[in-house]
Amino acid sequence: MWGVARATLDGNWAGGHTVPSRTLYPHQWSWDSAFIAIGWAHIRPDRTWSELDSLFRAQWRDGRVPHIVFNPAVAGGAYFPGPGFWSSNTVEGTPPVATSGLVQPPVHALAAWHAYRRVPSEAGRVALRRLYPRLVAQQRYLATCRDVGGAGLASIVHPWESGLDNSPAWDGPMSAVPAEAAVMRAYRRRDTVHADPAHRPTDLDYARYVTMVTAYRAGGYRDDSLADRHPFLVECPLFNAAMGASEVALAGIAEAIGVDPGPHRERAVAITEAVVTRLYDLDTGTFHPRDLRTGRLTPARTVLGLTPLILPGLPARQVETVLAEARSARFGLAARMDRPLPSHDRTATDFEPLRYWRGPSWMNITWLIRLGLLRHGHDRLAAGLRSSMIDLVAAAGCHEYFHPDTGVGLGSPAFSWTAALLLDVLAD
Ligand code: SER
Repeated sequence: MWGVARATLDGNWAGGHTVPSRTLYPHQWSWDSAFIAIGWAHIRPDRTWSELDSLFRAQWRDGRVPHIVFNPAVAGGAYFPGPGFWSSNTVEGTPPVATSGLVQPPVHALAAWHAYRRVPSEAGRVALRRLYPRLVAQQRYLATCRDVGGAGLASIVHPWESGLDNSPAWDGPMSAVPAEAAVMRAYRRRDTVHADPAHRPTDLDYARYVTMVTAYRAGGYRDDSLADRHPFLVECPLFNAAMGASEVALAGIAEAIGVDPGPHRERAVAITEAVVTRLYDLDTGTFHPRDLRTGRLTPARTVLGLTPLILPGLPARQVETVLAEARSARFGLAARMDRPLPSHDRTATDFEPLRYWRGPSWMNITWLIRLGLLRHGHDRLAAGLRSSMIDLVAAAGCHEYFHPDTGVGLGSPAFSWTAALLLDVLAD
């Protein structure tokens, strides 16, 4: 299995960065690169740092790390929405390479520190020193420009920023976004050429995705007065837990390179407190996104609710109730999993086992929750997730996602983060 994973990463290496998938995602993606960097540490540690360097070279002057960095050698029409749609080059403070204007969950400091600790080296330490100011700027952008709610959490302005594009978590906030079918008549989706449309977001989702980008782009991707003019503003538990966990990682990186870790530790505590205060629901005992347009938590019980486990300082009360949620029939977490961890509540009426983030099992989320379980001392449950990751790839290969009941591979067949994170758990 090691060989299959290695061949997948090698096959997707594009010289300087790794594509998530040759067909579906032929450029560089932000959070994919963070997970991919972890996998390279086990086979080509130099590529861990090339991967992250390549991404952070595309960082904007305001600190944002774009969710897609376009490879100029790939045809403009290979992916929708491509570089022409985003037109980042018309915006001040953007890099020479074309990028999107959105971000993705800030798992990069977490990944850089994890990769370094798995395979420490002098070259790695030099790379951490080089990346540190960029990682700090990334966090600063999110904690300031994106703190639309004013409570110390970052808001996302598009479901693509959550990484869980069509999660039922976004159904409420998405329904408030105007959707005109005509919007999509002007464009051609490319994703449904490479993947089964039944496994992808719908055309109506895409009409709204395009409307939201168009609105953000019209304001020059600026973040001032978003509350007055942007149709989608949400505080996501995973996004903010990643931001907090990355402050913990930055404290480690700071120590390793001789910088004061104190401010990172303080920020990690503050973010953890804000995640609990703003996003924890006493009634459900799990975490939910907060829709800033309505001021309410969104009701769906998705896997996003479990992800604050990655915060080492999550209070015992929240750890306990989130574990109860994870072990319930909704998610089926166990020391011996009988089925993979789904991305949405199995018992919900809107659970869709084939459709992208509305049910299927994903390796990166399973990896993050496993990390959270280890951080809180639940080693047996963590071992259950590890075996389930290995079983999935053994039976289906390095697919993008998996049927949450049968384990059948879905989406793209040779997907980089599946391979990368499998290597990481195999190496344990
Ligand atoms: N995940 C999105 C896609 O499906 C983009 O970030 O293309």
